[in-house]
Amino acid sequence: MRIVIINGPNLNLIGTRSPEIYGTTTLDELDALCHGWGVEAECVIETYQSNHEGDIIDRLHAARGADGVIINPGAFTHYSYAIRDAIDAIGLPTVEVHISNVRDREPWRRVSVVSDVCVSTIFGRGIPGYRDAIRHLTARAAWPVETIAYGPDSDNVGDLRIPRGESPHPVAVLLHGGHWRDTAARDLLDPAAVDLTRRGWATWNIEFARVGSGGGFRSTTADVAQAIGSLSDFAEGHELDLSNVVVIGHGSGGHLALLAAVGKSEVPISAIVALAPIGDLE
Ligand code: DQA
Repeated sequence: MRIVIINGPNLNLIGTRSPEIYGTTTLDELDALCHGWGVEAECVIETYQSNHEGDIIDRLHAARGADGVIINPGAFTHYSYAIRDAIDAIGLPTVEVHISNVRDREPWRRVSVVSDVCVSTIFGRGIPGYRDAIRHLTARAAWPVETIAYGPDSDNVGDLRIPRGESPHPVAVLLHGGHWRDTAARDLLDPAAVDLTRRGWATWNIEFARVGSGGGFRSTTADVAQAIGSLSDFAEGHELDLSNVVVIGHGSGGHLALLAAVGKSEVPISAIVALAPIGDLE
């Protein structure tokens, strides 16, 4: 796999630019880290940075032929329709990355004009966000994935992966962790989803409202219940075995798995696996 990583304006100054927001890692150090993560993920990484909109667009065009793009467009994120159109035009799976939590700063940073043409947006995870973006692109390439909406909100989606071999397929519902906060997302369980699918499980790796994106005890647990219930909408078409549904959660997702098991579920839950859950919150 070949992945092109593009950093936009002012990202050449990280290391000294607002270190309380962006940290102390320099761009050279970030590039070196990305190349190392590429080696781990068995893919070739090309890095590029520019402060100029047109140069970023040219680099996107030149990326055609690669397998994926990771882009932090800097402030262009918030208003460059030209960069948005370039991402759309090249048609490569593209992950949008922001080092800082853009939803927790000035209101204008909450707006991204590129998100809708990207396969995923990772923000507020600091420098490791780039590592997670590489992992996400390699997971997408490792096994075909269908993203299905189970409700009206943008967080009401899940990634369905169907195994090879005999059907009907047992189902593993995956609930990611991350303290219920919106900086954590379902890409965190991509490696688990790919691994379980390889082992013969259909995986339904779901997103849900989190704190910062409309989540809270009621709305988050309601989303999880709805996502599990929605399996019956597409079970037939995908040959899912709804008598064998296991809910697996990590961290706060483990907590959600426990709650799903004791709550009302339209689809019966055969078992739960709660990895490092918080078991004693009411
Ligand atoms: C940024 C966030 C943008 O709002 C800002 O203009 C940047 C960096 C980030 O990585 O957090 O330059 O994209």
